[in-house]
Amino acid sequence: MNTITSQQFREVLGQYPTGVCVVTAASGDGPDAGFVVGSFTSVSLDPPLVAFFPDKRSSTWPRIAAAGHFCVNILSADQEHLCRQFSSKAPDKFEGVDARPAGTGAPILDGAVAWIDCDIESVSEAGDHWFVLGRVRELQVETGSLPLLFFQGGYGRFAPLSMAADATRGALGEELRELDLVRSEMEALAADLSSRCVATVIDGDDLVVLGSAGSPEASGRATLVGVHLPFAPRYGAAFAGWFDDDRLEAFLGQAPDADRAEERRRIGRVRGRGYSVGLINGAQREFASALDQLEHDPHARDRDALKPLVEQLHYDPEVLTDEAKADVRVIAAPVFRKGGEVAMALTVYGFSKPHGAVDDYVERLLAATRRASELLGHDDTD
Ligand SMILES: Cc1cc2nc3c(=O)[nH]c(=O)nc-3n(C[C@H](O)[C@H](O)[C@H](O)COP(=O)(O)O)c2cc1C
Repeated sequence: MNTITSQQFREVLGQYPTGVCVVTAASGDGPDAGFVVGSFTSVSLDPPLVAFFPDKRSSTWPRIAAAGHFCVNILSADQEHLCRQFSSKAPDKFEGVDARPAGTGAPILDGAVAWIDCDIESVSEAGDHWFVLGRVRELQVETGSLPLLFFQGGYGRFAPLSMAADATRGALGEELRELDLVRSEMEALAADLSSRCVATVIDGDDLVVLGSAGSPEASGRATLVGVHLPFAPRYGAAFAGWFDDDRLEAFLGQAPDADRAEERRRIGRVRGRGYSVGLINGAQREFASALDQLEHDPHARDRDALKPLVEQLHYDPEVLTDEAKADVRVIAAPVFRKGGEVAMALTVYGFSKPHGAVDDYVERLLAATRRASELLGHDDTD
């Protein structure tokens, strides 16, 4: 057998990323104990067991072992400062840290993604580390935000190529299956335009963001997946443009009388063009910031409170002048399933060059929705 050098071991194992947790314990009279571990893992569901591997040289581990319990706090992407604090040798690592006791008494750190409170089940030797098995007493998602990741000496956050809404919510099962089929088109399109691409579907009076692709440049949360938006006039023309007469009338019936004729013309334009464009204005800025809030906290805004904003969005001007094109921030187009019904809309936004060539963006979006429609069994005879 070849000898394995420590450099080689580190280099090879360093190819594997980990999450970052702070394992804590209440230590009787003294200060609480806590240290960072990247070696946390789930082990068994029945019975519920988790594990981590403390270094035999750790001065914190003996205090946790003496407590007989521990709480694993999964750090969020914005808690890198806690990672530094709890991987240091500072005498009181809890200084300035807000926490509350779990059932075992071990500290739960404010703002953790989730925590797992455990009794120590067993400790065995594992080379220069200990192998600690914990029996889970209680566990909970705390903020549910994105976790902090550690990779090759640096910290980062999860940026999915694409994500899909939770299939367990049930009602949108067929749409999720369709989303799976078109997902690679969405990823390629988002990469091609250096933008984000979301897939929306109609669910009653709502537009639901079912899937998302493209890396979020600035925003903390990765996607809008699962966000419900009002499906109302002034919005959603990528669907309404292909409604049959009855459905279109019902949709237009929601618009104030004075707006109905213009909304009908707008929807006609979208159908004629094959896509819908959203232009920047005050309402659009406010809407974008509301979506940002929703991304961070789905309960931050009442969906109905978005309706007045939606009514002021500026979509689909009569003529797409160069000036209007320079204001385009969002482009949406339908994807058809077999039979010609609109299955979903793909919306691209967040272009790295918002004032770039809108015609080019449109062309690429339409090429992607054409291919996506083919993947869903649609053909020209539909
Ligand atoms: C990202 C990251 C992951 C770590 N994972 C582990 C681990 O799995 N086991 C371990 O013993 N130490 C791990 N450490 C190191 C300890 O956090 C650190 O050595 C310790 O907190 C400081 O020493 P003390 O145990 O004497 O307080 C990790 C540190 C970082 C930054």
